[in-house]
Amino acid sequence: MNPVKVGIAGLGTVGSGTVNILRSNADEIARRVGRPIEIAHIGARRDNPACDTRGIRVSRDVMDVARDPQIDIVVELIGGTTTARELVLAAIANGKHVVTANKALIAEHGNEIFSAAHAKGVDVAFEAAVAGGVPILKALGEGLAANRIKWVAGIINGTGNFILTEMRDKGRDFADVLKEAQALGYAEADPTFDVEGIDAAHKLTILASIAFGIPLQFSRVYTEGISRLTREDIAAAEQFGYRIKHLGIAKDTGNGIELRVHPTLIPQEVLLASVNGVMNAVMVDGDAVGPTLFYGAGAGAGPTGSAVVADIIEMGRSLTIDHELRVPYLGFHTDVLSDHPVLPIDGVVCPFYIRLLVQDRTGVLADITRILSQHRISIEAMFQKDVDDDQPVPIMLMTHSVLERDINDALAEIAALDTVLGDIVRIRVELLKA
Ligand code: HSE
Repeated sequence: MNPVKVGIAGLGTVGSGTVNILRSNADEIARRVGRPIEIAHIGARRDNPACDTRGIRVSRDVMDVARDPQIDIVVELIGGTTTARELVLAAIANGKHVVTANKALIAEHGNEIFSAAHAKGVDVAFEAAVAGGVPILKALGEGLAANRIKWVAGIINGTGNFILTEMRDKGRDFADVLKEAQALGYAEADPTFDVEGIDAAHKLTILASIAFGIPLQFSRVYTEGISRLTREDIAAAEQFGYRIKHLGIAKDTGNGIELRVHPTLIPQEVLLASVNGVMNAVMVDGDAVGPTLFYGAGAGAGPTGSAVVADIIEMGRSLTIDHELRVPYLGFHTDVLSDHPVLPIDGVVCPFYIRLLVQDRTGVLADITRILSQHRISIEAMFQKDVDDDQPVPIMLMTHSVLERDINDALAEIAALDTVLGDIVRIRVELLKA
């Protein structure tokens, strides 16, 4: 049988991982596809000692791969959204199928890319873009395709999870752990993408589109990072029976879709709370299946290469099938994507954790609880730290479910009290009940 001819653009960590898997598992992969997969062309500005490219044509201009007439599938692993976008659109224009691991590219330019691919009758697959080696996109678009998805909640940035785990387990400071994550190679080239939630927002955009059949809407994701979290809040959450995780949450409320990335208190007993270090996990609640959990490595040459190669295998199997009959790019056919609105963040309803610093004076607590009750906010639990006389007192409290707009109004009034000092910390809570 003729081999499927693959061109790989980019030979960094994921590119070299992909080449190594395609080579070391070539026989097993050929048995799965029904024909061999041949790496016919690599485009890379420089070699990578982590992989052997002997016998493969290598070009220094990545665009050569998109132009090579013998290539069936172009694999974009260069990252970024400028050259990567040009390369992908050029490959599509030349009638090639595309596999990419590029979450920013799909989240920000996916609608344009799919429309070009649809017009040309070619396929685009991007399993590696979300949660690395965890096959969550195939799970949502195929394995759970029978369901109306109610919500998806995931730890989808390994660097952020590593930082939070170290802060909690070892009482380390944020900046110190971030440096280690960078040295270990987990963090994005620009680590603000990890710690300010942009990387997670890219991934959540993709998850939500495949879960609910909506167009990609990266600019509508509410995004809050972990850089302002303190060890004090992490410890206080534990005292209330919760753990702080940086979650991406996509929820179909019936009135619209919530798309949000932010630090979140989750009950210690839910499985997601035990996902530590750089590991990723995504929980999905479907109306027929109930709660499901997908766990694994979210980054690295092997795990991400595993997802890239899985896409190549799937495409290799279906190269001769008419494009309209393959799994749609976003799991739902492009012409029936829904226009469900994405809801504003102040319309979210959830419990809150609140920490504030107050003067130790009679009536301070009464003022705070009065304002909360005037805004119909009910307190679930509260504790006050014992401090030396005349020192400001930290108060931590958990509310019952409340509309975010109401808590904002209440906290603005509380912050205006003379007895309340400094900024008030507030962190959303998710019970993750299916
Ligand atoms: N920087 C990302 C993470 C890598 O930490 O999860 C994979 O997208």
